Parts: sequence; C-alpha cells; structure tokens
Amino acid sequence: MRLPMPATTHRFLEACRRRPVDRLPVWMMRQAGRYQPSYRAVRADVGFLELCRSPELIARVTCAPIDEFGFDAAILFSDILVHLPAMGLDLSFEKGEKGKGDGGPRIANPVRTRADVAALRVPDPARDLPYVAAGVRAINAGLAGRVPLIGFVGGPFTVASYAVEGGSQGFTRLKTMLYADPDGAHALFEKLTQAAIVQIEAQIAAGCHAAQVFESWLGELDREDLERFSFPYLVRIAEAIRRTGVPSIFFGTGLSGHLERIAQLGFDVVSVDWRIPIDEARRRAPGVAIQGNLDSTVLLGPPAAGVRKALAICEAAGPAPGYVFNLGHGIQVGTPPENVKAVVDAVQAFRWK
Ligand code: CP3
Repeated sequence: MRLPMPATTHRFLEACRRRPVDRLPVWMMRQAGRYQPSYRAVRADVGFLELCRSPELIARVTCAPIDEFGFDAAILFSDILVHLPAMGLDLSFEKGEKGKGDGGPRIANPVRTRADVAALRVPDPARDLPYVAAGVRAINAGLAGRVPLIGFVGGPFTVASYAVEGGSQGFTRLKTMLYADPDGAHALFEKLTQAAIVQIEAQIAAGCHAAQVFESWLGELDREDLERFSFPYLVRIAEAIRRTGVPSIFFGTGLSGHLERIAQLGFDVVSVDWRIPIDEARRRAPGVAIQGNLDSTVLLGPPAAGVRKALAICEAAGPAPGYVFNLGHGIQVGTPPENVKAVVDAVQAFRWK
C-alpha cells in the first residue's frame, strides 16, 4: 500500500531548498507539548517515555497541532534521548513538580570514564526503537499528505551533555572531559554520531520528509573546540542525511558568532535564535536556507506583541527564497494556545508587496 505523501513541492520543503514559495511556511519547535490542553490530557494517563513508545499516541500528539493551528510541517513526537536506554543508560523523566527544571531527564548511570564510553552500544533502530518507525507510519497515515513530516535526532554534543552530566545539570563535566581526556570525549562523540546516523536513516526510511539535528547547547563551546569536537561529527550526520535526498536542518542556540562556518557544514537549512537580526543572518549565510528567529518568550505576552514581532521578522527576512518561519527555541510551558494561533495566522497571511 502506498500512503498519500505530500508533494515534494510542498512550500516547507521548497523553502528548505531555497526555491520560491507562494507564502512563508511556519512551524514551531515543541509545537506538540504541555502548553496544549490536548497534550496534557494524553499525559494525564501515561508517562513521557511511555508516550514516546506508543505509535498510536505518537501519531495523536504529532497531528494535534496540525489540526489545531494549521502548521505547515509536522515534527515526529519523540525525544533526542529515547535511544539512551538501548545504549545502556538508565534514563527516566522526573515528574513535573520540581520547580524550574520540571519534567527533566535523569540518567542514573551517567558516562564518566573510558570504560563507561566503551560499554555504550550503538542502537539498532529496527530492534531497539521499532515504535519510532511505526510512529512515523502512523503519523503519515493521520496527516494523509496534508503537510510534510520532520524527523530528528540530537547532536552529539547536546546528547553527550545529558549522558555525562546525568541530566540538565550544565556542561562542566562534559567540557572538563574535553580537556582532561580528549580521546575519551572523541570516543563518546563517535558512538553518539553513529547512533544519530542510524536513527535518522531509519526515520527517513519510514517516511520522514526532512531531518533536523538538535544541537541545542552547542553555543557552550568556543571556536577551537567546535572545530575539534563537534563540526567533524556534524558534517558526517549532514552527509548521511544528504545521501537520503531529504532536506537537512541544523538547530542550535548561541551560535551567531559562528554562522558563516555552520553554513558550511553541509546542512540545507540553518536555524538561528533571536540573538541575531534575521536580515543579518540571511546576508551572512546566503548559501543555506534560514529558519527561526522569534523569541519564544514573546508568546507569553499579549498576542499582539507576538504578531508584531513575527511580522517584523517576515518583513526583514526579505523576499529571497529560503526562509522558514519558526521560533529561536521551543514553545514554552504556559504559552497561551491562542497566541500560537495568532502568530501562525499572521505569518500565513503575510505577503510581500
Ligand atoms: O514538538 C516537538 O518539537 C517534537 C517533540 C520533541 C520533544 N523533545 C518532546 C518533549 C523534540 C524535538 C524534543 C527534542 C529535545 N529533547 C531537545 C532539543 C530541543 C530543545 O528544546 O533544545 C532536548 C534538549 C531534549 C531533552 C529533553 N526532553 C529535556 C531537557 C526535557 C525536559 C524539559 C522540557 O522541556 O520539558 C525533555 C522532555 C520533553 N521532550 C517534553 C516534550 C513534550 C516534556 C515532557 C512531558 O510531557 O512532561
């Protein structure tokens, strides 16, 4: 059976390839999540990892924001850490009552020594993560070709930060490892790179139409360490995605100072946060499409504030092909859904005069 697939000319995929579109495509990182009453209702009965392991629930929460807000792309509901148990790490998500870092990941046996790195197994997606591919197929059935589906993996540095620190505990242990045991750090990044590649290949084979690499915390490193400990691995992940033929998207924060260099890693699209004006980003990286730029915090204010900033970004991004509207980081818990709706509607109604 052949499922309906969005035309490869869907405006989101066209914008990723820097081709002209009828209007700007818009989606938002964390568009499925706790700001939505429908998501909270699903989570009332199941734990987060349980949700990530149920193809039926994955499809339900992935499709909900498409139905509710009309985004131009769906993103697979999963997490950048779902494969860590298969690698040998004891991952859990804390209940959300802990104040600031609520709902955060915890790893009971973090990676601290060379022996810990050596013991990590590269997962086999077909055996260890069958629910992800099954989820992709269920999502595409639910989307029925309305919008493309984005698959994703975590970047090696960002996944390593959780694996080594044992949770959202900062970056000191991982960064210390870079200097105290560079070979051990390379061995860890090598395994996480292999894990990322097999996972993204499996997601694309199952039916994802684009692939995003979440390297959220890479802005922690200086240029020398980026060149040494990150970029060579990211180049390999970008190459693996390129071989499949789907557009590749890089995401990071705090990296504006390295934009030109990141645009050379081989990704089709580079995401930017709100710390750089969008016109400057487009000028400095003309060879790639640009995604992002709206500070998600503005969505906590009155809807008119978000709409005003969103339209200013659309205007400043300019009419040249190759811009995908998005936030600079994920939608925050507590965001009023009507603010999301107002921004999506405004971006979709925007036209260049
Ligand atoms: O809608 C989407 O964007 C798709 C789903 C998605 C999730 N996590 C669901 C999730 C995606 C793409 C991710 C990626 C992810 N996971 C990143 C990179 C993106 C970023 O935000 O920087 C990171 C760093 C993680 C690791 C992670 N997962 C953390 C630190 C936490 C806890 C903090 C938080 O935001 O809740 C999670 C849990 C998580 N992942 C939730 C969701 C919806 C909340 C879990 C819940 O329902 O309680």
